[in-house]
Amino acid sequence: MSEYRAGLGWDTHRTSAGRALILGGVTIASEFGLEGHSDADVLAHAITDALLGAACLGDIGMHFPDTDARWKGADSMKLLAHAVKLAREAGFEVVNVDSTVILERPKLKDYRQAMRESLAKCVGLEMNRVSVKFKTAEKVGPVGEGRSAEAQAVVTVRTL
Ligand code: C5P
Ligand code: MG
Repeated sequence: MSEYRAGLGWDTHRTSAGRALILGGVTIASEFGLEGHSDADVLAHAITDALLGAACLGDIGMHFPDTDARWKGADSMKLLAHAVKLAREAGFEVVNVDSTVILERPKLKDYRQAMRESLAKCVGLEMNRVSVKFKTAEKVGPVGEGRSAEAQAVVTVRTL
């Protein structure tokens, strides 16, 4: 019988003019993007931390330190794929992913399928096991004022 475990992930990045907005490996049409050492894919980072958490493998900064030139400008989906490999080596496979991106604008719902497809492919799941949700922050706080974006994720794994 498999043992099931859940992991929680959260991330935030500042918005920044002149940067690309990449969420779940999908480039979103936007006048601004997110600032960061890597491509600042806040959704991929939250999911990666949730997966590492479920497998008790530390966190994203432990495996991909932002002081390490190897990961500068890195495609965050490669980091997520690497975390899937680490989890597998530790004896876990991913069961499902649920996530929320909190961003005031632009509207993201038209990108939902593309993000789910991109994440499902990266994690090695059917699309019906990958959920992506979107919320505004109702104009309140840094996210609501358009100064940052946040993402939250829960990943369930089971023993192989
Ligand atoms: O934040 P709020 O509850 O007003 O969001 C309503 C809906 O708008 C969400 O359920 C989501 O489908 C969509 N949304 C979106 N892109 C965002 C924020 C919300 O598509 N950046
Ligand atoms: Mg991040």
